[in-house]
Amino acid sequence: MKKDTFTFHNGVKIPSIGFGTWQIPNEEAYDSVTMALKNGYTHIDTALAYKNEENVGKAIREFATPREDIFITSKLPAEIKGYDETLEAFNETITNLGVDYLDLYLIHAPWPWSDQGKDCTEGNVQSWKAMEKLYNDGKIKAIGVSNFQIEHLQPILDECDIVPMANQIPFYVGKDQEELLSFCKDHDIVVEAYSPLATGQVLDMPELKEMAEKYDVTVAQLSIRYCLEKDTLPLPKSTHESRIIENKQLDFEISDKDIKILEQIRDVRD
Ligand code: A2P
Repeated sequence: MKKDTFTFHNGVKIPSIGFGTWQIPNEEAYDSVTMALKNGYTHIDTALAYKNEENVGKAIREFATPREDIFITSKLPAEIKGYDETLEAFNETITNLGVDYLDLYLIHAPWPWSDQGKDCTEGNVQSWKAMEKLYNDGKIKAIGVSNFQIEHLQPILDECDIVPMANQIPFYVGKDQEELLSFCKDHDIVVEAYSPLATGQVLDMPELKEMAEKYDVTVAQLSIRYCLEKDTLPLPKSTHESRIIENKQLDFEISDKDIKILEQIRDVRD
């Protein structure tokens, strides 16, 4: 592993690889999260919208590791904007999870999924103020956003007190988001990489297969390691134990020359 943790600007540390649970149904979430915990993951990422918080929480509560040694992220649904609405949704999340605080709470997206691109600046600012309150009350250790571009981050920076500690975005070989990454770096915002395998679509790319062979690793490992090399925090997701283990075995380094080659690869989804 490159480093064990990233540190937010408030000093809170977050384990440098997280177990993503997007698209893991509630029925499978208990087993998947238990497998992840058993295999050394201490950082679990969920969201109210994933509809699996209940079994994610059950797995965490029933596992031997003490709550304070596990880092839990959840998210305010993209459709919910506003101060009171945010406080309500947060309560629903911690009730579902069965915990009394969150380590990280994110605004899931700057606009509702059904109306992407809509200007929700005022709603996002109001939601952020509610998150600041929850943070100041000690209910959340760190607060951030997800799927935010610079234009969405700027009003929060201009109108609110707390700079987001994290921005969780899609990031994988082929989707470098350079400008956004550099903006986040300038503001000390940790970038979390969701879909580090482009939901599986990078796995068949011949260039990646060839390079992975050279390092004697799998394409998944190369792709997840790439996120770390780019100073982003990967959140790989799998429901298979062998893959859950594999995705965390990242003790190798990609050379600068190969990073440059990977940076030239075009987005598999374009
Ligand atoms: P599964 O859950 O059946 O293991 P992403 O993290 O980019 O969202 O990608 C998740 C997808 O990649 C899922 O379909 C997952 O399938 C698959 N996946 C995760 N880890 C691996 C791996 N190490 N090897 C092959 N496929 C993987």
